[in-house]
Amino acid sequence: METTLIKNLNTKTDQEVLIKGWVYNMRSSGKISFLIIRDGSALVQVVVVKKEVGEEEFAKIAKLGQETPVIIKGIAKEEPRSVGGYEILASNIEIVSENKSEYPITHKEHGVEFLADNRHLWIRTPKQTAILKIRSEIENSIRSYFQKRDFVLTDAPIITPAACEGTTNLFEIDYHGDKAYLSQSGQLYMEAAAMALGRVYCFGPAFRAEKSKTRRHLLEFWMVEAEMAFMGFEENIKIQEELVYTIIQDVLNNCENELITLKRDIDKLKQISLPFPRLSYSEAVEIIQNSDEEFKNFKWGEDFGAPEETYISNKFTSPVFIHRYPTEIKAFYMKPDPTNDKVVLGADLIAPEGYGEIIGGGERISDLDLLLSRIKEHDLPQESFEWYLDLRRFGSVEHCGFGLGLERTVAWLCGLEHIRETTLFPRMLHKMYP
Ligand code: 4AD
Ligand code: MG
Repeated sequence: METTLIKNLNTKTDQEVLIKGWVYNMRSSGKISFLIIRDGSALVQVVVVKKEVGEEEFAKIAKLGQETPVIIKGIAKEEPRSVGGYEILASNIEIVSENKSEYPITHKEHGVEFLADNRHLWIRTPKQTAILKIRSEIENSIRSYFQKRDFVLTDAPIITPAACEGTTNLFEIDYHGDKAYLSQSGQLYMEAAAMALGRVYCFGPAFRAEKSKTRRHLLEFWMVEAEMAFMGFEENIKIQEELVYTIIQDVLNNCENELITLKRDIDKLKQISLPFPRLSYSEAVEIIQNSDEEFKNFKWGEDFGAPEETYISNKFTSPVFIHRYPTEIKAFYMKPDPTNDKVVLGADLIAPEGYGEIIGGGERISDLDLLLSRIKEHDLPQESFEWYLDLRRFGSVEHCGFGLGLERTVAWLCGLEHIRETTLFPRMLHKMYP
């Protein structure tokens, strides 16, 4: 007999079904037991009646511990009062294996440290599976967005000889006696790929040895990075806002149950509309200086921290682009604004509700001499960048791109307090177990 996923029980009303899963919860009286079974797709209540399964079987089932794996045969019944709207009247329950001791994560409240140490088990709970499913939906949405628009998926290397995003948070590794680093960003390689293929993207892990503990930073995170040849600043922003808008619609359309499980305020996502507001860095500084907040003494030229970003984003219901940052606080490759060379044609997209920067991007320097002088100013080793400089020596054109942080996006759309729940096994400061 074919296994039915619990989420598909609605296609099997009044039919015999076979489900395979784990005991999530149970209660029992003398004659009848109610098991809540999870199979990863959903939860269902299974009703076991002593008369149906026999005295001996019933006694075994009444003692089942949390997370015992079981294979259940029974009739699927519509039951609006039950979780998921269905129920199974069991005719047979097979216990696949016995747990070696009591399951550590009970239905009581647990401290987050305990849960983090038991992340390998924590991910079995409904909230965590909902987050992982939304993450999967977001990844699918991103890939399909780019595939539909003729972008070519080109995966960037993980081991790199040079820094892309500054040298302060590099993970150094020994490459058979040479110094190498784990990639902070695939961007430089995407620039090469864009000159070969026109429109490209990569989607993979990025590594940053962040030295502070925050609820927005991981040491290993996933980033999708797009790069487009023959494209300027404005068009780049349009592609970003349409991408983010598409992700939101896909999550709203395909993850309703998960959003409900997470108690996400769905209206906040529904009210987001295109185009997203745009604010220059200078305008944003003015808003901050005119505030009554403790950061009102913020000076032009400083970088925004989480409090400033949150203050700005709270003025809007949609994500907001902040563009034209001071040259000094941005990466070496950013193109200066032709009308004001104190600022660059870069933009960050700041998510609503205090979730911070989810995208960094902008137009790249296409001029060889300017790029060379920036590499020197930033004290970067020119010999490691010769190949990158070749992109300006041969066939150099206007081009731009951006990188969207997957975990920040998941945290925002799921409405999570902390980024640690957005990925299977988070890597954080002083924590890489399990
Ligand atoms: O703004 P960032 O540093 O931009 C780049 O790396 C560019 N090279 C991307 C490009 O243009 N191709 O990082 C991009 C995004 C951030 O907006 C943020 O969402 C995420 O990556 N991010 C992090 N997410 C989790 N933990 C961290 N430590 C992160 N650092 C950046
Ligand atoms: Mg950034």
